[in-house]
Amino acid sequence: MAKINFKTLKIEVEKEIKKSQNLKDLDEIFRKYLGKNGQIAQILHSLEKLSKTKRAKIGKTTNELKNFLMAEFEKRAQKLKEKIEKEVERKEWIDITIPGKKPISGHLHPLTQVKREVEEIFQSMGFSVVEGLEVENEWYNFDALNIPKDHPARDAWDTFWLKPENQKSKIKNQKLLLRTHTSPVQVRYMESHNPPLRIIVPGNVFRHEATDARHEFQLSQIEGLMVDKEISVVHLKAILTEFFKRFFGKNTAFRLDPDFFPFTEPSFSISITCAICEGKGCNICKKTGWLEMAGAGMVHPSVFKYSKLIPYQRSGLGWRGWAFGFGLDRLAMMKYRIDDIRLFRSGDLRFLNQF
Ligand code: FA5
Repeated sequence: MAKINFKTLKIEVEKEIKKSQNLKDLDEIFRKYLGKNGQIAQILHSLEKLSKTKRAKIGKTTNELKNFLMAEFEKRAQKLKEKIEKEVERKEWIDITIPGKKPISGHLHPLTQVKREVEEIFQSMGFSVVEGLEVENEWYNFDALNIPKDHPARDAWDTFWLKPENQKSKIKNQKLLLRTHTSPVQVRYMESHNPPLRIIVPGNVFRHEATDARHEFQLSQIEGLMVDKEISVVHLKAILTEFFKRFFGKNTAFRLDPDFFPFTEPSFSISITCAICEGKGCNICKKTGWLEMAGAGMVHPSVFKYSKLIPYQRSGLGWRGWAFGFGLDRLAMMKYRIDDIRLFRSGDLRFLNQF
């Protein structure tokens, strides 16, 4: 067996251990010296060939070196682990004192807010909220509402008709259109429900017309319908008085003017004091101090007939009722004093974020 200089070996291994920069390198050095086939194992193996006294002496020195090196490897491994932990800490450090970023949260569109408020007021007065169809057919939008074939509202200049290739009406020979008002729901509802009835119908309607500060080509309406035995305009006025008071938060002057709708008789327009100028007269109210909010009237006997209900008879048989159709956008204009209806659907966040 060649002479072993334990001192030099010790210094050599210590040096290599110190040089190791990561656990992988350290493991390689460990295997080189203390592994199964490492240098120390080889020394111990070769002891067999020595005399008993030499074997005991060199064996003892080898084991001391082995134990010393084991402890050195352990110390270095610990140091390298601490180094890794510190590195992770440095990279993943979070300053929990930095103020958080507030997530941007949206809110309901003002027209939706107004719609919900109107629904709540009418629901508290016993009205149910009913929905209709935005794509309607000619019968419900016009014929069943007593609007004759030659009425100008049926003209392509007033109504968005669907292209023939999109005409998939379930009813034969019925042309489809984007509904021009929420009134078709009156007939649809009366066909399938027996009076007494109290409903409101919010929804979008579409009109092929030029826009200005008071007119949009897409707007929301709220239809109202009340049908019972002894119903008159008095009930309509009472409901309107209560509605305006609760919606505007104060007694609001309104008036009914004679008007014409083929589906009501008599018919009215409902106007309130213009909130923009407080009745003094401005461009929005055409200097009158009043702004039209709705059309209304007593349900026409023909509409009852088309809905398969018996209209009121002198004998006391049959039903009576009134209906109205509010412009929801106009209600919102008056509530928030907005002087241009087009702002609501402009998508301008500077405007919308104020609500
Ligand atoms: C109608 O639409 C009738 N269906 C209302 C009705 C219902 C009458 C039930 C009788 C019984 P009119 O076209 O006037 O009527 O519209 C009703 C309301 O919708 C108007 O008073 C107005 O407030 C609003 N409105 C109508 N057209 C526009 C438009 N282009 N832009 C904004 N608001 C509008």
